[in-house]
Amino acid sequence: MTDKKIIIAANFKMNKTHIEVRAYLNSFFKKLKELNININDKTDEKCIETDAEIIFAPPFTALNEAYNIIEENIEFGHLVKLASQNIYFESAGAYTGEISIEMIKAFDCSYAIIGHSERRCILNESDDLIAKKIFAVFNYNSKKIDLNFCEKHNGKLIPILCVGENLDIRKSGKAFDFVAGQLDKALNYSKNNLNSNMQNINDKLKDKSIIEIDELIVAYEPVWAIGAGSSIEPEDGEKMHKFIYKHLNNNYSSIKNFSVIYGGSVTEKNINILMEKEHIDGVLVGGASLDPQSFFNIYKFAVSK
Ligand code: 13P
Repeated sequence: MTDKKIIIAANFKMNKTHIEVRAYLNSFFKKLKELNININDKTDEKCIETDAEIIFAPPFTALNEAYNIIEENIEFGHLVKLASQNIYFESAGAYTGEISIEMIKAFDCSYAIIGHSERRCILNESDDLIAKKIFAVFNYNSKKIDLNFCEKHNGKLIPILCVGENLDIRKSGKAFDFVAGQLDKALNYSKNNLNSNMQNINDKLKDKSIIEIDELIVAYEPVWAIGAGSSIEPEDGEKMHKFIYKHLNNNYSSIKNFSVIYGGSVTEKNINILMEKEHIDGVLVGGASLDPQSFFNIYKFAVSK
């Protein structure tokens, strides 16, 4: 077991019906049981001891099914979590085709992917929109604290904020500035607006110690490596992850817990060399997550070093 909290996430993108997701997850859980993860018997030396989290982000239409199967395998409930691939920042209303935080929380989603490059590039999502979505998540969490909301996973939703440069930017040597800019554009709005909101909540609760809403996963996904068949060189990935760590520590001290995971052509072949890097906390896998055996191998290799 390593010191870092490992996160192995599957982004199915626009793939799989709810029936296919059921078959996939049944197969995945079967493999997980066979892996002999140490859940109950801490004395069994053959067991793998891990708290590495597995996150599934199926399409919205399969969230219900995925939720049911996770419930059926509740002994792994502390390891296997659900994410939505997107959210809208309003909580309800005339927003045809959009999905609210409340709707995905009804399926016990612990995470929401926000600002994926495919949404930025294909659906024209702007930095402003992404900033509002991030704020909506933090604000949702703070309101739930306000209402003394309590359920599984603390009822919190944790954003998985995707950032990453395209090939032109990488070639021009401006990838670090670009990623810092994406982080700032996504997070500054929350930084500026949550403070006053939190002050109100603090005043009401009179217990400042329980306010800890700023949990975040950053997924560094260089656009040129997504679906490309070859990932970033691990050394280059480490440099960017270390930079993101430093940037968040220097500029967003209120974020108490964050992880930085890598996405872009991750497979069972390159997972080990990526995970060896100190600042690569995990991976967000697209193509190679679609087959349960291949995603299972990625998880297994990541936890059994
Ligand atoms: P691939 O693993 O297919 O490159 O996709 C990465 C990704 O976009 C995950 O969100």
